[in-house]
Amino acid sequence: MSEQDVKTTALPSGERVPVLGQGTWFMGEDGRQAQKEADALRLGIDLGMTLIDTAEMYGSGGAEEVVGDAISGRRDRVFLVSKVLPSNASHSGTLRACERSLKRLKCETIDLYLLHWRSGYGLEETVAAFEQLVEAGKIRYWGVSNFDTNDMEELGSVPGGNAVAVNQVLYNLTRRGIEFDLLPWCRPRNIPIMAYSPIEQGRMLDHPALHRVAKECGTTTAVVALAFLLRNDGVIAIPKSSTPQHIRDNRSALDLRLSAEHLAILEDAFPGPRRKRRLDML
Ligand SMILES: NC(=O)c1ccc[n+]([C@@H]2O[C@H](COP(=O)([O-])OP(=O)(O)OC[C@H]3O[C@@H](n4cnc5c(N)ncnc54)[C@H](OP(=O)(O)O)[C@@H]3O)[C@@H](O)[C@H]2O)c1
Repeated sequence: MSEQDVKTTALPSGERVPVLGQGTWFMGEDGRQAQKEADALRLGIDLGMTLIDTAEMYGSGGAEEVVGDAISGRRDRVFLVSKVLPSNASHSGTLRACERSLKRLKCETIDLYLLHWRSGYGLEETVAAFEQLVEAGKIRYWGVSNFDTNDMEELGSVPGGNAVAVNQVLYNLTRRGIEFDLLPWCRPRNIPIMAYSPIEQGRMLDHPALHRVAKECGTTTAVVALAFLLRNDGVIAIPKSSTPQHIRDNRSALDLRLSAEHLAILEDAFPGPRRKRRLDML
């Protein structure tokens, strides 16, 4: 399968991005693993998982350096996402953090720059800095992370706040709270949800219901968990993996169509929300 075959979803601008990307949390923490991590990201890119999610926080900049190495010579094939820490999210702090990230990523532009979670600085200050970075060509889009529905409403009331391109939140079979209100809020506004920790960092993979469905589908529990998320329009999943077989498995989630019977088994084991729950965070 080539990159062209990967399912995409539209950003509010209409630009399309792959619905399956790659995370990088815990990369760049141990220099001896850096080569392996960069190779893993390159394998994922070659399989079409060309959206890469990183952050200045991961490995205290180390993950951005790994990503910079991984995308060297193939920057034009990648949709690059990074994040500013809330503690840096003042107007001038955001501009400076972005410059540092660009240096570590060894590139001119970040495609999508996110506020990692809500900060003590006013949203209008961070948004103004994001807009300035767009004007300067340092970033192409900006978005947010760990924003609940009320945070999104508040963002919409800030000058320029409606330009938000995505909201990246914790979403997986064991964390379905956003299906009650945040997902239905984002969908009509064409704001994709980027699902982080889509396999709950591996903690859910021994669940008997997942095992049953995986066995019947001839695949792994991780693949079933990802396929469950990817059946939704407007959801982008960003599993992290440094293990080549896992990366190939994750890619195969795009080709798995869960039957009504298998969906019913999963719904029964991991019921969706019946009322508003506060947004979970890791
Ligand atoms: N915005 C935020 O606040 C926030 C918070 C958390 C995460 N994130 C982003 O979302 C990304 C993904 O979340 P995450 O890293 O927390 O957790 P995750 O992707 O749910 O899980 C990663 C773990 O699962 C393993 N794994 C991956 N694919 C597998 C497979 N097919 N079979 C078995 N095990 C597999 C990985 O090990 P191997 O490496 O050995 O495969 C790793 O230990 C992060 O890396 C980061 O980019 C954002």
